[in-house]
Amino acid sequence: MLVIYESMGGNTKRAAELIGGGCTFLGAESTVCSVTTVDLHALAEADLVFIGSWTDGLFLFGQRPGRVGRFKKLPWLDGKHVSVFCTYAVNAGGTVDALSKVLTSKGAVVVGGEAIKRSQLDAEHIGKFVAEQFDALVPKVLAAAG
Ligand SMILES: Cc1cc2nc3c(=O)[nH]c(=O)nc-3n(C[C@H](O)[C@H](O)[C@H](O)COP(=O)(O)O)c2cc1C
Repeated sequence: MLVIYESMGGNTKRAAELIGGGCTFLGAESTVCSVTTVDLHALAEADLVFIGSWTDGLFLFGQRPGRVGRFKKLPWLDGKHVSVFCTYAVNAGGTVDALSKVLTSKGAVVVGGEAIKRSQLDAEHIGKFVAEQFDALVPKVLAAAG
């Protein structure tokens, strides 16, 4: 598994590290990297890629993924299963959907998403999110394998 994050103040990086820890606990080798330094080997190998950003906006409206241009520069995602996440303070608005659209335009197959409140960057909330994403992925991987 690969976890790619964009973080300005560290919250989304923390979320990414917890997600990586959850993957490892579930038995999947995981790599965590910033959107500007993607590990291409890990990307090629990953069955599932978690990709997340922070929420940028005017708090009650105009929300969008922070530094979205960096996601537009990602390599082609070539049918990869991607689970999208964002962190936010008050209201994430359409951030997960907007980031999903960008990633879909880069070839990703978005299989899930979650907005995670910055006050809930803990093992309980993130562990539950990771477990749900794995649950949803298993039938897809088995179906693809025929
Ligand atoms: C310029 C700026 C704009 C933000 N706009 C929003 C917003 O519209 N809604 C919201 O809920 N949080 C907003 N936030 C809060 C961040 O999304 C939140 O603190 C996030 O966890 C920061 O992640 P980071 O520490 O990885 O950068 C904003 C933060 C910044 C710096």
